[in-house]
This record gives sequence, structure tokens and C-alpha cells, in this order.
Amino acid sequence: MNRTLVEELMETKVTDATFPVSGPENSLDPVEKRTTVVGIVGCGAIARTITDFALKENLGVHIKFFYDQDMKRAEDLASHAGGVAVQNVQDMLSYVDLIVEAASPGAVMEIVPKVLESKSDVIIMSLGALMDQDLKHHLEDLAKRNDSRIYMPSGAIAGLDGVKSASIGEIREVSLVTRKPPRSLGISTDTEKVLYDGKASGAVRKFPANINVAAALSIACGMEADVKIVADPKIDRNCHEIHVVGDFGEITTTTQNMSCKTNPKTSLLAAYSVIKLLKTLNEHSRRGT
Ligand SMILES: NC(=O)c1ccc[n+]([C@@H]2O[C@H](COP(=O)([O-])OP(=O)(O)OC[C@H]3O[C@@H](n4cnc5c(N)ncnc54)[C@H](O)[C@@H]3O)[C@@H](O)[C@H]2O)c1
Repeated sequence: MNRTLVEELMETKVTDATFPVSGPENSLDPVEKRTTVVGIVGCGAIARTITDFALKENLGVHIKFFYDQDMKRAEDLASHAGGVAVQNVQDMLSYVDLIVEAASPGAVMEIVPKVLESKSDVIIMSLGALMDQDLKHHLEDLAKRNDSRIYMPSGAIAGLDGVKSASIGEIREVSLVTRKPPRSLGISTDTEKVLYDGKASGAVRKFPANINVAAALSIACGMEADVKIVADPKIDRNCHEIHVVGDFGEITTTTQNMSCKTNPKTSLLAAYSVIKLLKTLNEHSRRGT
């Protein structure tokens, strides 16, 4: 991106009511904070759902910068949302407080370390990448050293609030059964077929697009979930059933997800979980764990 353009944009913040600036002649009310500036990495279905929502309702943050490995996608979404498309992630890092990663496990590996090193916070959607324990520990270490935050939204499943509370005690069993219409799993079958039955980490290579929920559950529990992936011709929604047993008792939840308009593989609830997280960042009261 043309740096002059970015500089111009940031200069407009001084007179922009949504960007109060601190300084002797423009001092802030003690409780007033600068609006959180957000950049998006990955301009696909999740990003589009977030920006559509932000155009209708105030999220309490300013979604300003858009990056995608496909520049056209970044430009299209930026123009739809009234933001700025950047050619390199580096172009926006000095100006953002938070990056939403909604791209791919590769982006978590390549881009998230740069985000944390620049002392920005990050929301990670491609949680499957964090089944790689070395990468997860590396990112957590970077976040600690740079005093930044890594947010992992609950995505396409319900119940992670209770599961997180449960993890204070001993958890003995964690399982996930994911059922999808065969076409969502890239196969065609008239009968129910179990495509995977094993530990979450084992599904990473075989089912990368289906591992985000298993990763979210495993991370919330602090132990690897047992995962079953089933192609079910009788259903038309992506369904996730989680079951957790521990000294607190038992939790079972079932989520039947509608898909995002532009990507049938991605659940609307996953995009909603980022929107809700963005909305709660600056709230003064919090619900749930
Ligand atoms: N946590 C969850 O519950 C959950 C649910 C659904 C999807 N996801 C994950 O979120 C991510 C985004 O989902 P989506 O439906 O919006 O995907 P999508 O395919 O609709 O869009 C992804 C966009 O990211 C871009 N992209 C991919 N790799 C990139 C990289 N390295 N650098 C820059 N841009 C890159 C692509 O060009 C594409 O425009 C995926 O990894 C998906 O698996 C997570």
C-alpha cells in the first residue's frame, strides 16, 4: 500500500470524532479511550459477515484495514466496508490495535507472530493451527513478552463457557462428534459413513477444515478431545455434539449450524462469535466465563 495514503488516513483521525487523540491541547476525559483500530487478515466468508454487521450496527471498534493473499478480495471488501486494502500485513501493523485472523492455518504460522511482535492483539479463527503445540507455545510466549493478547473465540460450538469453568477441576473425558452433509466433506454417499475416529491431533492433516471446533474444545479443556467425523446424508446442517465429563459433573451440547452465505463450509455462528467478541472488548460488564 502507498504509505502516504496510510499516513493521510491516520492524520484524519485527529479530526475524526471516533478517534479522540490524547495530547496537551486535545486531552481525553480520564475514562474515555481511543477506539480500537482493527485489521482483518483473510477477506472471505467470516470477514464479510463481520463487516456486513459492522455496517449495520456499531461494534465499538473501527475495522479499518484489510489484507488477503488475493489482493482483489482485500480491495473488494475494503471498498464495501469503507476501509483500506493493504498489500502487505506489515503496512497495517503500526496502525492497528488488533488483528482478526480469518484466513488459514498458514496465516497463523506466518502472520500471527508478526502481529504479536508488533504488540497488537489477535483473534485467531484458524484454531486448527494451534493443535501444533510448539506453535501454540511459541505464540503464547510471544504474547507474554510483548504484552499482547491472543483471543480464541468459541466459533461454531456452544458450551465452551461451561467447559472452561469445568477445567478448573479435573476433566476425565472430552469428545466431539461432528456430523456434516456428505457434500460438505467432499464426498457422495447415501449411507452414514464415519470418516475419522481418533484423537483431535490426528485429524489435523486429514480434515484441516474440520479441526477448528476440535481444537477450540481441546484448548478449552486443556486435554485432547476424542473426535468422530461423520458424513450423514440425512442432515443439511453442520452439527457438533460435545460431551465432557469431570469432577464437576457432565456437559453435553449439540449445535446445528446454518452456513455463511459465501462459504457453505463455514458456520454463521463462528462469524457471530467474533462479532460478539469484538463487541465485548470495550464493554464494562462481562457475561459468562
Ligand atoms: N474457529 C471456528 O469455529 C471456525 C469456523 C469456521 C471457519 N474457521 C476458519 O476460519 C478461517 C476463515 O474461514 P472463512 O470461511 O472466512 O474462509 P474463506 O475461505 O471464505 O476465506 C479465507 C480468505 O483468506 C485468504 N487467505 C488464506 N490464506 C491466507 C494467507 N496465508 N494470507 C492471507 N490471506 C489468506 C483467502 O484468500 C480467502 O480470501 C479458515 O481457516 C477456517 O477454517 C474457523
